Amino acid sequence: MRILLIILLATCLGSLTQAKAQYYDDPKEHQCLKCHSNTSYSFHNELMDREEKRMMNPYYVLDTVAMRTGVHQVFDCTDCHSYEYSTYPHQANLKLEPLATCLDCHGGDETFASYQFERIDEEVQKSVHFDAYGESFNCSKCHDQHTYRPIARTAENVKEIVDYSNKMCLTCHANMQRYEMVAGREKPELVQVHRWLPNQQLHFENVRCIECHTDVTDSLMVSHNIRPKTQAVRNCIECHSGNSKLKASLYKYENLQKRSEGVLGNIISNDSYVIGTHQVPFLQWLSVVILICVLGGVLVHVIFRILKK
Ligand code: HEC
Ligand code: HEC
Ligand code: HEC
Ligand code: HEC
Ligand code: HEC
Ligand code: HEC
Ligand code: HEC
Repeated sequence: MRILLIILLATCLGSLTQAKAQYYDDPKEHQCLKCHSNTSYSFHNELMDREEKRMMNPYYVLDTVAMRTGVHQVFDCTDCHSYEYSTYPHQANLKLEPLATCLDCHGGDETFASYQFERIDEEVQKSVHFDAYGESFNCSKCHDQHTYRPIARTAENVKEIVDYSNKMCLTCHANMQRYEMVAGREKPELVQVHRWLPNQQLHFENVRCIECHTDVTDSLMVSHNIRPKTQAVRNCIECHSGNSKLKASLYKYENLQKRSEGVLGNIISNDSYVIGTHQVPFLQWLSVVILICVLGGVLVHVIFRILKK
């Protein structure tokens, strides 16, 4: 009997904690995601007393898969947005509602001290974006509160960090509408701007934009001070050398998390590793095999000579 009770209690607790992380599991059931995860939505038009179907603004369609892995997955929509959104049509004045910023919730909170939110805020205020647009260029311009993940801490490998991080810049720098909304003019073509860099695609897959566009800060995981283009890194040697700046920035996560596989393992374990000069595992293996064969040959030769004597 007692065992039964314990099992019952355990399943209850289990489903409770699960339920907490499953706000967005079935978009069709969720009162907001019924509309906000689809290209079209339907509602009851009370004036005409009939069901209607309309197109959804694509910028208001949320990525429910990404939300489920985001840092704020335990939140329901109305923890951040007004409860009055529960009715549709949404009231017009809800547009004016102030939304909490990262600092409102995380500033001064010991639980999140390791992220150093205040220091990041200081760095952001020195950056080119803040110079040009002030407070209106807030954290949410790069960080989507719905889906954000601290990728540098959770990623499996450096490529994943680079991809996620660069997409944050490219949502704007490669998107005409978003860029124009902020700047009020056309965006410069990134491919043109970086024409001096050979193998552009390869570079953008292997280094973050911030590698060249920020200073390395030892005390912060991610530098946030984007500097003017005149101060960007152009010098190949800064990365392609024994003491590459990448060791103090992009690759420091590998050190922190003690992941040491493949090429990156070499970077950490071997100070003379130069970026762009791969050590091919097959060749390494082959050289060992050849060495063993040579030694074996010598041994056989020596044995035969002794026997012949
Ligand atoms: C019946 C469909 C429907 C439902 C349900 C719905 N929304 Fe909306 N929502 C819309 C549409 C359509 C828009 C675009 C603006 C408009 O038509 O009012 C919108 C706009 C928004 C906006 C952007 C407002 C702006 O203009 O900046 C927010 C935020 C929002 N909804 C949140 C919510 C939340 C939170 C819920 C659940 C509590 C919810 N919505 C439920 C259809 C819906
Ligand atoms: C952790 C807080 C948080 C949660 C949880 C949250 N939102 Fe948002 N949402 C925001 C913020 C902040 C913005 C404004 C983004 C900006 O400034 O660009 C926003 C903007 C929006 C917009 C306008 C589109 C846009 O990108 O500007 C819609 C629609 C929306 N949210 C719907 C929802 C729905 C539906 C949910 C639940 C499934 C939800 N939000 C959960 C913080 C949140
Ligand atoms: C409405 C308050 C609120 C806002 C706004 C908010 N957060 Fe959070 N955030 C939280 C809470 C609460 C948690 C803890 C969630 C949990 O326990 O799973 C959290 C978790 C996190 C975590 C994970 C911390 C950890 O170690 O598990 C990060 C990183 C984070 N938020 C970054 C941000 C960033 C960046 C922004 C702005 C773009 C932001 N948050 C905006 C309340 C907020
Ligand atoms: C110009 C774009 C941009 C702006 C603006 C921006 N960030 Fe970031 N932020 C990034 C990028 C890129 C990363 C690296 C991705 C990652 O690892 O999380 C990052 C990472 C972070 C992290 C994770 C750092 C860690 O230690 O793991 C936090 C926390 C953070 N930002 C908070 C903020 C806050 C708070 C603001 C506003 C004061 C802000 N960011 C503004 C681009 C930006
Ligand atoms: C290898 C270093 C490097 C990388 C990686 C890099 N940049 Fe640059 N970037 C530069 C340099 C150097 C300039 C200055 C070019 C010039 O003025 O001729 C520049 C210029 C720019 C400009 C200024 C455009 C203008 O003329 O107004 C923008 C915007 C920019 N980069 C964004 C990005 C983004 C976004 C990424 C990531 C996808 C990125 N950069 C990756 C080095 C780099
Ligand atoms: C929401 C849009 C948006 C996002 C996201 C964004 N930027 Fe920008 N960025 C701009 C705009 C607009 C300008 C033009 C600023 C000006 O008028 O001087 C700019 C300018 C720049 C410049 C050129 C500065 C100069 O000297 O001309 C660089 C470099 C840059 N951004 C890098 C980045 C990097 C790196 C990221 C990601 C970490 C990023 N941006 C994210 C909108 C954005
Ligand atoms: C921000 C750091 C950085 C800068 C600056 C930089 N590179 Fe690279 N480069 C890399 C990384 C990382 C790779 C990927 C190599 C790897 O995976 O080992 C790469 C790859 C390459 C490759 C291909 C090598 C291969 O393994 O196939 C060439 C060629 C190259 N870079 C040339 C240059 C030249 C020339 C410059 C200067 C104009 C330059 N790079 C500037 C970081 C950088």
